[in-house]
Amino acid sequence: MCGIIGYIGVKSAGPILLDGLRKLEYRGYDSVGMATFEGSGITLKKDAGRIDDVAKRERLGDMQGNAGIGHTRWATHGGVTKENAHPHASCDGQIVVVHNGIIENYSELRAALAERGHFFRSQTDTEVVPHLLEEELRRGNGIEQAVRNVVKQLHGSFALLVLCSREPDKIVAARRESPLIIGLSDHGTFAASDATPFLGQTKHVAYLNDNEMAVLTRGGAAYFDFNGNPVRKEVAEITWKAEQATKGGHDYFMIKEILEEPSAMRNALLQDRKAFTEFAHEIASAKKAMVIACGTARHSAIIGKHLLDRVAGKQVEVMIASEFAYFADNLTPDTLVVCVSQSGETADVLDGVRKAKAKGCRVLSIVNVVGSTLSRLSDRAVYLNCGPEVCVAATKSFINQVTVFYLLAYAMRGAFDEGVTELTKVSELLLKAFELNDARAKAIAERFVKNGNAYYIGRGVNFAMALEGALKMKEISYVHAEGMPAGELKHGTLALIENGTPVFLLNPTDYTYYDTLSNGLETKARGAVLIGVGNKNNTAYDEFIELPEVPEIFYPLLEAVPLQLVAYYAAVARGRDPDRPRNLAKSVTVK
Ligand code: M6R
Repeated sequence: MCGIIGYIGVKSAGPILLDGLRKLEYRGYDSVGMATFEGSGITLKKDAGRIDDVAKRERLGDMQGNAGIGHTRWATHGGVTKENAHPHASCDGQIVVVHNGIIENYSELRAALAERGHFFRSQTDTEVVPHLLEEELRRGNGIEQAVRNVVKQLHGSFALLVLCSREPDKIVAARRESPLIIGLSDHGTFAASDATPFLGQTKHVAYLNDNEMAVLTRGGAAYFDFNGNPVRKEVAEITWKAEQATKGGHDYFMIKEILEEPSAMRNALLQDRKAFTEFAHEIASAKKAMVIACGTARHSAIIGKHLLDRVAGKQVEVMIASEFAYFADNLTPDTLVVCVSQSGETADVLDGVRKAKAKGCRVLSIVNVVGSTLSRLSDRAVYLNCGPEVCVAATKSFINQVTVFYLLAYAMRGAFDEGVTELTKVSELLLKAFELNDARAKAIAERFVKNGNAYYIGRGVNFAMALEGALKMKEISYVHAEGMPAGELKHGTLALIENGTPVFLLNPTDYTYYDTLSNGLETKARGAVLIGVGNKNNTAYDEFIELPEVPEIFYPLLEAVPLQLVAYYAAVARGRDPDRPRNLAKSVTVK
């Protein structure tokens, strides 16, 4: 959460930072700000609001100078106000800082700084940093040494970028637990929360690890640990293309990313057979395997749990990553921890990984972003290959996570190639599921535009899809939606069903069909409007979302498409921005 970017080079920093912040906006979008060094001193402009509004008002793109830092905020400490927007400055305005993360001991530091005469302009945790740096400079330290001394006083997580008017030929970057990537181009050097803001300028990157710093200059970067010892870095090359992170003519990233699902899914199948099979066998032979993930990634893991059990006879446990920590005390090295994450930067997952590693567990990950913290902390990783996903709501990454679980199940049975063949056929039907249901999904979304509640029910593997359908609906349309095992409804929630309540019944003709149908009829008997999702219509259904026929284990992949479409159109019909839902951010880098 929060996106940060810095640039120092021969080009004008203003437009580069602004363009970068637009690409980072999915990490937080309640406030935005930039600071550049303009010859005689630092100019700082910021405000609460969406980037385009603030950029227009403050003329961010016109900011002068060849060095600067920028920030797009997802509020943690302090409300959404101009004062709380980053960058934050020292009392004398000579030092400016942008930050992603949380400084846990900020209130003690702030009280002590205030006692020593520092004047605070915001309620943020971040603002202690420029004031602490100011004291270091007063002691005669240069900005690099100042950063080294200050980071040792900070508890919590941070990716920091620091610009100081006394040494305007450098930007100092420091990292602990929050992502920070350095980009090296022929016209200057970048640092950012991820590579998307500078993909159009360079594909050459270096990854900072925890407790490392970088000093960025026009000609490149030097890397150090927090004690000032030089660190050698490999330069890696990013394969993503800049245009993949644009809307490509669509109204929203969400619809573009749903449309990309068939090709994204085929890319998920481009796995190295040997490495992938070894990965699968490691899970198959683990005494105990625990899968940890959050949100949509966890729903894919629940589907994975069903698939591994049904196809390969392997039972695994799935845990919400933020709850896993409470079971970490009794972990033993014979537990294998498998993480699922699109971004590879989700703080709850990374926290689980650190705890598991401390107990001697091996960690495998299923991740999209190559070079992400998760991929680098893991003992082994397989990649989703779905390209950049910009919309906050996960769509194509979910399809690819589920696809990887299918392929793992096949690979465990020694049938990797058969899995690729079967899943390729399903990928072709994703487009059919889209075409069959695009207009229907819109009509259903519009029919229920006045409803404040929706229920999604299913059994077995379809229960996980009920969870995912409901999450998609609530996060982008703000309709209260609940995903439930269909059989559990009568144990309480059925009391909420009344005349006109929409109930999405996830009911393909698989091993759950008849029991699920009975549960759907029970809701209808209490006034529900029943929306059947499956390959077979039924007279009880008030609406029917039709899926193409596939072998029964593959229905979850096809169910995902119309459920995403219904949520998308529900958001649009209510005038919400599906790409940037309120209160949320794409990369959840705080616990
Ligand atoms: O990057 P990750 O896959 O680790 O993210 C996990 C969740 O934050 C994410 O899936 C979230 O639930 C999505 N907004 C759902 O659409």
